[in-house]
Amino acid sequence: MSVSLTGKRAIVTGAAVGIGTAYAQALAAVGVHVAVCDVRPEIMALPDLLKRHGVQAAAWQADVSKPDDVRRVVDGTVEAFGGIDILINNAGVVWQTHPDDDLDKTLADYEAIVGTNLLGEFLMGRAVISQMLAQGSGGEIVNVATDHMVTCGSPFELCPKLPTCPWADAPRPTGGGDVMDLYDASKWGLNGLMFAWAKALRPHDIRVNSMCMGATDSWMIRDFFGYPQDRAEENDEQRETVDTWMAKEDTAQVVIELLQEGPSGRNAQNLNLCIGRPVCLEPALPHRYIKAETVDA
Ligand SMILES: NC(=O)c1ccc[n+]([C@@H]2O[C@H](COP(=O)([O-])OP(=O)(O)OC[C@H]3O[C@@H](n4cnc5c(N)ncnc54)[C@H](O)[C@@H]3O)[C@@H](O)[C@H]2O)c1
Repeated sequence: MSVSLTGKRAIVTGAAVGIGTAYAQALAAVGVHVAVCDVRPEIMALPDLLKRHGVQAAAWQADVSKPDDVRRVVDGTVEAFGGIDILINNAGVVWQTHPDDDLDKTLADYEAIVGTNLLGEFLMGRAVISQMLAQGSGGEIVNVATDHMVTCGSPFELCPKLPTCPWADAPRPTGGGDVMDLYDASKWGLNGLMFAWAKALRPHDIRVNSMCMGATDSWMIRDFFGYPQDRAEENDEQRETVDTWMAKEDTAQVVIELLQEGPSGRNAQNLNLCIGRPVCLEPALPHRYIKAETVDA
């Protein structure tokens, strides 16, 4: 059964560029009122585009790692829309970090990467969950994580081995690992939040799931690889690599289908979107880390 999202109220963090923009636009296209925030000033232009779908929209230039900014976004959304039904915790940053990095650099990296990817999602969750509980009408939280958590680099026995996966010896070798220790750690930390929140909030019809994204064409991945942002790939090697990436608009449709499952849908699941197989909502997986009865409807 597909639940209508029309009239629901959502926050999407980190929506000025990349995947967050696509998520915000996909939500607006199915009738969701959308509030967005980002550290980039360009975020203030997005509501006008979202409103073309006939929904309400609002934006804040805000940093999800700062509690005062988080409060401003959440209180502002409640004031603008009257409540919050959906939180998409998408804001994220990545750059290379190495196990032997200088200690001073390491602390700055930790504060920035863990600050956005883990603290930011934690603070947004804290602020939104209390609002959802006060409303008493359930809710949806979607954390945006990485496929490094569920396939690449995971212990072999935890790989879901989806029927559509092209990697015969899955999980394939990690795309991060030795140059992304902090990024991977920050995203693995989201597992802790997801499982704890899903279990605690199940009685209140609030679901918590994670989008474990593989390579998706966005500002972030182009910056990481040093590719042009304007899609003017410089050579065949770049073009071939970009061709393997997912389109953010396709991944946004998976989020919409996830939300359309409604309160009886999957819960506490890492949705595995790795490259090389169809970008679609896979069937729910068996629970491997927690007891199913604590998170299933
Ligand atoms: N693109 C990929 O291949 C890929 C793969 C795995 C996971 N992800 C995850 O998907 C999410 C979106 O990534 P993307 O590829 O669209 O990145 P992106 O860099 O293209 O967009 C991220 C947005 O988040 C914003 N942002 C960063 N820090 C912020 C903060 N502290 N507060 C508010 N906004 C902030 C940025 O300004 C930017 O607009 C991230 O969580 C990322 O880790 C992306």
